[in-house]
Amino acid sequence: MSTMSNDPSIPKEGSLSTEQEPTIKSLDIDEENPSKENGNEVDIRTKGFVVVVAIAAALGGLIFGYDIGGAGATFVMDGFRLYFGWDCPEGDDACVPATESQIDTDQGLINGLFGAGAAIGAIVAPKLFDSYGRKVTMYTASWTFVIGATLQAAAVNMTMLQVPRLLSGAGIGALSMCSPVYIGELAPVHHRGQLATLWQMAIVTGIVLVSILNLWLKNWSDGWRISYGGNVVFALILICMLIIMPESPRYLVGKEKYDEARQALQKVRFEDQMDEEMKELELEAKAEVERGVSTWAEIFDDENRMRYRILLGIGLQSIQQLSGINAIMFYAPRILENFFGSSGGIVGALVLNVINFFATFITIATVESFGRAKLLFSGGILMCFSLLMTAIFASLEETKTIGFLIVVFCGLYVVGFAYSWGPVVWVYCCEIYPLRSRGKATGLTTLSNWTWTTIVGAVFPYAATASLTGCFAFFAGIVFVSIFVVYFYLPETANRTILEIDEDFKNHRPEFPRKKWN
Ligand code: BGC
Repeated sequence: MSTMSNDPSIPKEGSLSTEQEPTIKSLDIDEENPSKENGNEVDIRTKGFVVVVAIAAALGGLIFGYDIGGAGATFVMDGFRLYFGWDCPEGDDACVPATESQIDTDQGLINGLFGAGAAIGAIVAPKLFDSYGRKVTMYTASWTFVIGATLQAAAVNMTMLQVPRLLSGAGIGALSMCSPVYIGELAPVHHRGQLATLWQMAIVTGIVLVSILNLWLKNWSDGWRISYGGNVVFALILICMLIIMPESPRYLVGKEKYDEARQALQKVRFEDQMDEEMKELELEAKAEVERGVSTWAEIFDDENRMRYRILLGIGLQSIQQLSGINAIMFYAPRILENFFGSSGGIVGALVLNVINFFATFITIATVESFGRAKLLFSGGILMCFSLLMTAIFASLEETKTIGFLIVVFCGLYVVGFAYSWGPVVWVYCCEIYPLRSRGKATGLTTLSNWTWTTIVGAVFPYAATASLTGCFAFFAGIVFVSIFVVYFYLPETANRTILEIDEDFKNHRPEFPRKKWN
């Protein structure tokens, strides 16, 4: 674990006094004693249980990644195509296979209903999140997913496969709204970025897991059922884990349940860390206790620079998707098939998924010491360059050498995304909103993520047929803009409490050259 270069115990310009703030600074998980660094007392202890809880909440990401990698792959599985009449069994001359347009419609509905469900889940979840708490939200979302995915796994016709996609999508949409925030709320300030990155780690693990599984499932006529329903197992584990997971103390304090909040906090903090954090929680929840949860109108209010924060969060989530990641996640086998044939395409896609997985560790190692802004900025530059190179190579004749260069630059792009815009956008959106606005604000930012995921997924096949180079150039253009957004408009949040983040948003002004990176 890397050394922190930022010290939250030093008051920032215009910030609250140090009496109101925890003087925590961490180097390693699970160290037993506070230590001194640069003459400041630093508390480097983190209870192991909070890591267990974060991993459990991140199971939602595993479900999410499994679906992203799983459903699309069934479209090329023989068992699936035969079962739903897309192809005919060999030697069956009486059989008439589905037309290309019917197949396109079926695929569009399988993907589209899932995306629509996820968008609905993300925007409905804040109601549960604010009124009944984080655990109830994750519980309801997991069961919704389980019902939807089980129906799909048991489907006997295309309608029975497609309609429940709405339900499984809603479950995953709600989990993606709630789980990262829950992790961020329970994590100690000095490990918040790392623990919230477990969400992305789980997504990429789910993607790799299912892509390996698919290599085997495609040989079994009913294998597709596991591609749609296998992740029910993770949802059931999450449901069981919820029994021992504490409610977010932030939610409880916001509802003035101080005793319960203390008990919840006790599970994830050492005894002598409690008083200071309870004080800080009460300060954080003051606005919610006095004025209740924000209305939708208040989310766009300029008080507390909320409008700025919302536009920033929506912008970040939209850029994450418009950077083209899911064009690669969903369609890499199809793009690479033109150069290497269908098996080569699947292997190439698997290579990209594995790169995605390993590169996420870079974030775990650096997100606290380098901070969010530096990762997004440098990742953006790497992604923009790689996308431009891919665009250039995609315009050349389709030879194996060109195919290989495309894999190399897509791989570099994936490295850039995996350590920056993938995890950091989720981390950042879960930490920049004040408590009373948090549910609705993250509901909106998550909604924008799912809306663009669905649009990119639906439009990319047509756009790529028109011009693959044009698609990559478009993604490069979006990422180019994102580099400036980060440089000028993104206050750093690493190692800051929410009260300090409030102050940083109030004081942040675009400047060149940027002075405050960390
Ligand atoms: C994105 C997903 C994407 C995944 C790829 C996530 O951060 O939200 O849409 O498929 O990263 O690793």
